[in-house]
Amino acid sequence: MRGMDGLGALGATYLSDIAAAADEAALEALRIALLGRKGAISLRMRALGGMDPEARRAAAPALNGLRDEVEAAFRARRAALADAALAARLAAEWLDVTLPARPRPAGTVHPVTQVMDELTAIFADMGFAVAEGPQVETDWHNFDALNIPPEHPARQEHDTFFLHRAEGDNRPPHVLRTHTSPVQIRAMLARGAPLRVIAPGRVYRLDMDQTHTPMFHQVEGLAIDRELSMAQLKWVLEEFCRAFFEVEGVELRFRASHFPFTEPSAEVDIRCSWADGQLRIGEGESWLEILGSGMVHPNVLRAGGVDPDRWQGFAFGMGIDRIAMLKYGIPDLRAFFESDLRWLRHYGFAALDIPALPAGLSR
Ligand code: PHE
Repeated sequence: MRGMDGLGALGATYLSDIAAAADEAALEALRIALLGRKGAISLRMRALGGMDPEARRAAAPALNGLRDEVEAAFRARRAALADAALAARLAAEWLDVTLPARPRPAGTVHPVTQVMDELTAIFADMGFAVAEGPQVETDWHNFDALNIPPEHPARQEHDTFFLHRAEGDNRPPHVLRTHTSPVQIRAMLARGAPLRVIAPGRVYRLDMDQTHTPMFHQVEGLAIDRELSMAQLKWVLEEFCRAFFEVEGVELRFRASHFPFTEPSAEVDIRCSWADGQLRIGEGESWLEILGSGMVHPNVLRAGGVDPDRWQGFAFGMGIDRIAMLKYGIPDLRAFFESDLRWLRHYGFAALDIPALPAGLSR
């Protein structure tokens, strides 16, 4: 730095202070101290005005040079701080897209949920929508509307849980639904004919041993159209079992049976073997009952507001826990509802594997 006494040393101090400013705030404080209205450099510039012309001519160039240098130093430092801030952000917000995806979540999907998802996918493919009904059901939907009048013996067979009513409570009697069949009535009343629905859900019966729990799961199926027959019912059930058990050679046996809400009625068994305690579907000499079915009784169509002279229907009801046990080789039904984490880890399914027909139901 040339000219005016001490200006060179002062300038060197200013420049090193500016270069050392740690952040925007420190830099701004320094700018005010040097170039602000009462800043050190501004005061010297103003002092030039009071000098005689000769002295001014001698002093001005050095002072102007100092001011230019200081201003340039501010610009450089500001840019350097901005660069450093950007670099820090880039470092902090950096993401390694080559890292593996999130690890498998700790929780698993319960086999009942898995099987509901699987059968929903299979029946959706055949044009069945999902319908729902309440678990606390009116006596009428659960029994009367399904052609089971109060004195019918089938009522005793259902081991029903009845809801307690206080004295003077005149609401209609309610039960915990003993099967998913009341959803047939609700679906007909809500949607009319033609109709194709399944209704998976919880049902309740007062029963408890190795193969029975007081709460279990069923899926109801109902199809209503102008002309439907047992042959179509049989095709739908065979198609379902082939897709569900993922075994080409499934074999079903239709046994004549009786349900008040279907006529004729059939129970369906699936061929299996128990060789060396290992259950195999589609081979062997044993038969396992998996569902009840039949042609919808005219009284049931009528209760659902569907004219039996114009419409026909078939229906079926299948135990979801039962077919889950069969497909996934789970020996004890009661373990389904004990919430034992070791059991869930063993028999559960990965949460992100959603069953779909094209990708394969279970992987
Ligand atoms: N609701 C019957 C049961 O729980 C099953 C069934 C449904 C039978 C539909 C025929 C038609 O056992």
